[in-house]
Amino acid sequence: MCGIVGYTGPREAYPIIIKGLKRLEYRGYDSTGVALQNGGIKVYKKKGKVAELEDTIVGKDLHANTGIGHTRWATHGEPSDRNAHPHQSASGKLAMIHNGIIENYNQLKQELSNKGYTFTSDTDTEVLLNFIEEIKSNNNCSLEEAVRVALKRVTGAYVILLLDNDDPETIIAARKGSPLVIGVGKGEHFLGSDASPMLEYTKEVVYVNDYELAIVKPDELILKNLGNEKITPYVQKLDLELAAIEKSGYDHFMLKEIFEQPRTIHDCLRGRLDAMAGTITMSGIQQYADQIVNTNRIIMIACGTSWHAGLVAEYIFEELTRINVEVEYASEFRYRNPVINKGDVIIAISQSGETADTLVAIENAKEKGAIILGVVNVVGSSIARTSHGGAYTHAGPEIGVASTKAFTAQLAVLTMIALKIGYIKGTIPQERYTQLLKELEEIPEKVAWTLQHSESIKVLAEKYKDARDFLYLGRGYNFPVALEGALKLKEISYIHAEGYPAAEMKHGPIALVDESLPVVFVATKDQYHEKVVSNMQEIKARKGRVISVITEGDENAEALSEDVMVVPEADEILAPMLSVIPLQLLAYYIGVAKGCDVDKPRNLAKSVTVE
Ligand code: G6P
Repeated sequence: MCGIVGYTGPREAYPIIIKGLKRLEYRGYDSTGVALQNGGIKVYKKKGKVAELEDTIVGKDLHANTGIGHTRWATHGEPSDRNAHPHQSASGKLAMIHNGIIENYNQLKQELSNKGYTFTSDTDTEVLLNFIEEIKSNNNCSLEEAVRVALKRVTGAYVILLLDNDDPETIIAARKGSPLVIGVGKGEHFLGSDASPMLEYTKEVVYVNDYELAIVKPDELILKNLGNEKITPYVQKLDLELAAIEKSGYDHFMLKEIFEQPRTIHDCLRGRLDAMAGTITMSGIQQYADQIVNTNRIIMIACGTSWHAGLVAEYIFEELTRINVEVEYASEFRYRNPVINKGDVIIAISQSGETADTLVAIENAKEKGAIILGVVNVVGSSIARTSHGGAYTHAGPEIGVASTKAFTAQLAVLTMIALKIGYIKGTIPQERYTQLLKELEEIPEKVAWTLQHSESIKVLAEKYKDARDFLYLGRGYNFPVALEGALKLKEISYIHAEGYPAAEMKHGPIALVDESLPVVFVATKDQYHEKVVSNMQEIKARKGRVISVITEGDENAEALSEDVMVVPEADEILAPMLSVIPLQLLAYYIGVAKGCDVDKPRNLAKSVTVE
C-alpha cells in the first residue's frame, strides 16, 4: 500500500506531486509528505490526507524541479507527523519514501544502533535509509551503488525513491514486490505507484520489474538489475484516458463506479462474447484450454471482494464444467503447505493485480507446476505479468476503496471462462449454453434497469442507517453475494454486518435476531428460492426486520419483507451480477447518510501490497 510519486524535469515538481498523490490516495491516506530539491532537500510532511498537508504549507517556497511525495498506509509506526514519509537520513543529505515492508528491519536497526545511530521515527523506512547512508559513507560510493548493496541485505517488499543533496536532479528508485511505473516525457520523467499521476503529461511508460533499480534524470532513464547490469527499458503505450480517473460529476468515485457497471460489464463482454455465433473468444484462456479441460482441480486464489467473486465462480464452474473447484484466501494458502499437483489450474482473481498475498501464493504454486490464470483488472500489474494466461476484466480504473465494478466484471469474466471450458468439455447442454450466452449479453441492460431504482434504496438507507448490526443471508449463487453485501456495509459505514448462508443461520446467528436487527435476504428467483422464503418466515417469526433483494414481480417474497430492492429476472448463474447492485447502493447511501468518507474509509486501502 502507500502511494508514491516522483518528478524530475523542467516543470514545477510540487503541483505534479500533489495532484499525483491525490490520485493515489486510494492506496493509503493516513499521512502525507513531499521532499523537494530546493537549494538542499526540503521535507514537508503531516499526519492526515493530502489536502491537509497542502493547507499547512501554503506560503512556503515550494519551488523545485525535482521532488518525491508519499501518501501512507501505516505498517510500522502509528500514523503521525514523525512517522510520515519522506524520511531523512541522519546527515540530512538523503530523503526517501517507501511503499512496502522491510521484514529484517529490526536486525538492521540493531546494527545501526550499535554504530551510534538514533532514529526519529518508528518506521522500517528510516532504518533502511540510514543503512543505505552508512554503506554510502563507508564505501565512499555513489548513492546508486549504496542502494544496490543495501537491497541485497533486505528481505521484504519495497518500492523506494531517494533524493540526494549532492545530485539534485536525480531520483534513484528500486522495486521488489510493490508496483512502480516510470513515465517518459520529453526531457522529464515521472514516477508513480500507478500511471495515474502522469496521465496528462505522457502516455509512454515503463513498468519496472522486481529487483530492478532506476537512475532517473530529466533526460535520462537508466535501468539496472541488482548485479549492476544495464537493462533496456521496455517503453509501453498507456491505454488510459484522464476522464477514467475523474469523478465526472458524481459525488464520490464509489457512486460513479457503481453506475458505470452497465458499461464496464459490456466492455468486458465486448469482442469476447458473440451470442449469435455461439462463441466466446478469450485468447489468454484458449491457449490453456486443453490443460483446463483435463485438469482435476481448479483453485481460485484471491482476497477481499475478489475472493467473493471466486466463491460465486466455484458454484458456476462446478455446475458448468464439472471440475472440482476450491476457493482459497491467498493469505492462508501461501502459508500452509497446500497440495499442488502439476497440471492443477490456479485462477488468481485481483482487481489491482498487486495484492501481495495473492501474488506470492501464485508464485509458490507456479514453482510447483500449476498453470496460473489471472483474472485481473489493472493491465501490466504484477499478478497479470506473473500469470501464464488469463483474461483482463477491463473495468477501467477503480478508485473507490470499496470494490464494486471490478466485482461484477470479475463475475462476467469468470462466467465466460466457465462457459467456454464447459462447452469444450461437453458438460453444458447445447440449449443451456445458447441460452446463457444470450442472457449474459443482456446483463448490462438489466444492471442499468436495476440502477434506475437507486432512489428507493436511498430512502431505505435513511430508514436503516442507525441500526447497530446487519445480517445478510443468501443461498447458492447468492450466498457469496450476501457476504459481499455485508463486507460493503462494514467497509463504508462501519456498521457491523455479517454475511451467512441462509440455512446455516439457524446454527448461530438466529440468536441475534430481534426487532432491531435488519436482515437482508438476497432472495432472487432460483432453485433455492422456496427455501430462502422459509428462512424469511423464520426471521419474521422472531420479529427480525426483513429487507429483501427480490426478482421483479415476486409478490410472495415481497409480502414477507418490510422493504424490498428489486432486480430483473435472470438465470441463477448470472443473478449475482444483478443482486449485488442494490447491496452496493445500500452500503453507499448508508455510508453517505452517516457522514462517512465512502471513497476512503478509515484504516482501509485499495491495494494491499503488504502481507
Ligand atoms: C483490499 C481492497 C478490497 C479488495 C481486496 C483485494 O482489501 O480494499 O476492495 O477486494 O484488497 O484486492 P485485489 O486488488 O487483489 O482485488
